[in-house]
Amino acid sequence: MHVPVSPNLSRRRVLITGASAGIGAAIARAFAAEGSHLELGARRMAKLEELGERLRQEYGIEVNCRRMDVRDRSQVEAWVEDLAQEGRIPDILVNNAGLSRDLLPIHEGRPDGWDEMIDTNVKGLLYMTRAILPYMVTRDSGHVIHIGSTAGDTVYPGGNVYNATKFAVKALTEGMNLDLVGTRIRVSSVDPGLVETEFSQVRFRGDEERARKVYQGYTPLSSEDVAEVVRYVAAAPPHVNLVRTVVYPTDQRNPYVLHRREEGEE
Ligand SMILES: NC(=O)c1ccc[n+]([C@@H]2O[C@H](COP(=O)([O-])OP(=O)(O)OC[C@H]3O[C@@H](n4cnc5c(N)ncnc54)[C@H](OP(=O)(O)O)[C@@H]3O)[C@@H](O)[C@H]2O)c1
Repeated sequence: MHVPVSPNLSRRRVLITGASAGIGAAIARAFAAEGSHLELGARRMAKLEELGERLRQEYGIEVNCRRMDVRDRSQVEAWVEDLAQEGRIPDILVNNAGLSRDLLPIHEGRPDGWDEMIDTNVKGLLYMTRAILPYMVTRDSGHVIHIGSTAGDTVYPGGNVYNATKFAVKALTEGMNLDLVGTRIRVSSVDPGLVETEFSQVRFRGDEERARKVYQGYTPLSSEDVAEVVRYVAAAPPHVNLVRTVVYPTDQRNPYVLHRREEGEE
């Protein structure tokens, strides 16, 4: 039988955007294991439903899935209105949905990819937060957790617009904390280095060979590693606010310093 590690997360309601894959799906599982109830959103409904069903069966929790695109403000607002009407406003909002596109110098960049990154990583996070925070303020409780990135600390070649979106997330984590001083609401970000997910396949627009190479020769973080940090941040006692938690694989010390081993090397 699974024993939850953090009893204070049991029966809390957690909303996770981008829960159909990667880090978001792992975060859903980590909270499910604590007995939290889940509100999951993403565009690929079949993947969400499959995950939701597994978590309901394994952990006996409530899981509601919603097909939604964080870039569409009316969809975000309609979701939150429905949650409010049904008494399911979350205690914890995890703004995870995000992506990168391409790794091109700015003068060769693709503006369609820039729009996707800015609309998802920055505006989507803002729409979700704006819709849910007023309810948290009224209750004077809640926790907003952003999935930022070490790309929000250090710029790397070709990262330009993706870096800018994650720098924006960092600024919003800080700014929201200032705006909420005097309330009991916490705002945190968990900022990972290299994590092996579908992220690079999306970045390189389905070029699987190129995506695979990103993770070769070293041990990247897994989605579960990041989810465990998110769980820890959420489980901290109410007077403790882990504002930014940066997590790298041991083989990566910053975006430039990555130790790759030759084949056969231990
Ligand atoms: N992987 C890394 O190395 C890494 C490092 C640092 C930070 N991050 C951050 O971690 C977060 C999760 O990325 P990941 O690595 O788990 O990538 P992933 O495996 O590609 O998962 C991304 C998730 O976001 C969802 N999503 C994307 N656009 C969306 C939209 N417009 N509306 C709703 N959901 C959307 C996707 O679902 P649908 O396609 O079904 O909508 C998917 O569930 C992102 O914010 C990313 O920037 C990743």
